[in-house]
Amino acid sequence: MSHGPIYLDSQASTPVDPRVLERMLPYFTEQCGNPSTAEHQHGEAARRAVEESRQSIAAALGCPSEKEIIFTSGATEANNLTLLGAFADRPVSERHFITSAVEHSSVLEPLAYLKRGGAQVTLLPVDGGGRIDPEQLRAALQPETTLVSVMFANNEIGTLQPIKEIGRICRAAGILFHCDAAQAVGHEALNIEELQIDLLSFSAHKFYGPKGIGGLYVREGIAADSLQPTQFGGGQERGLRPGTLNVPAIIGMATALQLAQEEMQQTNQLLRQMAKELFNGLQQAFPKLRLNGDPEHKLARNLNITIPGVEASALMMMLKDELSFSAGSACSSVEHKPSHVLKAIGLSDEECFQTIRLGLSPGINAGKIARLLQRGIAAAPTFID
Ligand SMILES: Cc1ncc(COP(=O)(O)O)c(C=O)c1O
Repeated sequence: MSHGPIYLDSQASTPVDPRVLERMLPYFTEQCGNPSTAEHQHGEAARRAVEESRQSIAAALGCPSEKEIIFTSGATEANNLTLLGAFADRPVSERHFITSAVEHSSVLEPLAYLKRGGAQVTLLPVDGGGRIDPEQLRAALQPETTLVSVMFANNEIGTLQPIKEIGRICRAAGILFHCDAAQAVGHEALNIEELQIDLLSFSAHKFYGPKGIGGLYVREGIAADSLQPTQFGGGQERGLRPGTLNVPAIIGMATALQLAQEEMQQTNQLLRQMAKELFNGLQQAFPKLRLNGDPEHKLARNLNITIPGVEASALMMMLKDELSFSAGSACSSVEHKPSHVLKAIGLSDEECFQTIRLGLSPGINAGKIARLLQRGIAAAPTFID
């Protein structure tokens, strides 16, 4: 990406790593078999490649068995399958879900749909850094609680949730724990078994894999009737997600995850350094800048910054030819509603609209970005002092 603006939106999506693309290419052309048609060599080769990918993803995530990985089109689908499929044979009015106020819309929207049908939904508040209190979760559990869904890392402010404690509480209470880890897989060391997670969603395009592929980890020990399919057809993926598998994308996802795991420590060290340099550079010029999120429990690549007096959308427009970044939230900026995540950590509507999200990636020049942003902020129309 040598021409055009510098890409600073790695939490929205990432480019496919060339090493990933190279592994994928043959599966678009000569290796065209359908993995469900294993009676001939083409089908058998595709099936083998898919199963090797499944094994490698399972190993990277600390799953005891590769059978626990279900391929989906991404984290949105994995989240929907979990929430709509959990104990789907029970009447909706007898289902109770616990989640946090800062979840992604692909968790909050299916829950809103279930709530309209009569389900009970408990939304846990978060502290000023965006973390839930595990004790509040414990207190919210009821005998009829169907499932707890709490994200690993937030897509706007990068905050990491206390997943280990949540896993322990849910397992002790015998209640299913789902974790939307779309922002964490490939970026944070995580071991599903150790964390006592029952269901976990992930998405390849967040870790330098292709778009349109992801997965759901479904713990083998959970009863078959705990998770019901929401789509029906050819019976693929243990019947939970029927449809012909996207072979090149699955191979790309497995390759991308393997590379991300190998390079994670070094990459995160680099990104943390970069984030520090960039934020310090900006804060020296504009001491009123505020960093959102939990400074201690945070994704390395996230910088979510409130710039008092500067409207984020105006700044984005001004710098559009130089930098591609997002306002507080890519999704809510479309609707031009204040971000529910920023509201949950206590920002006013006005502050929400004065907030930008920078998603860092290796290879960018933090000093240059700080200079471009400084110039933009200095020239942006100001609304308050
Ligand atoms: C936390 C979180 N959950 C879910 C999703 C949806 O993922 P996908 O793009 O794979 O549907 C995203 C991506 O924006 C995300 O950040």
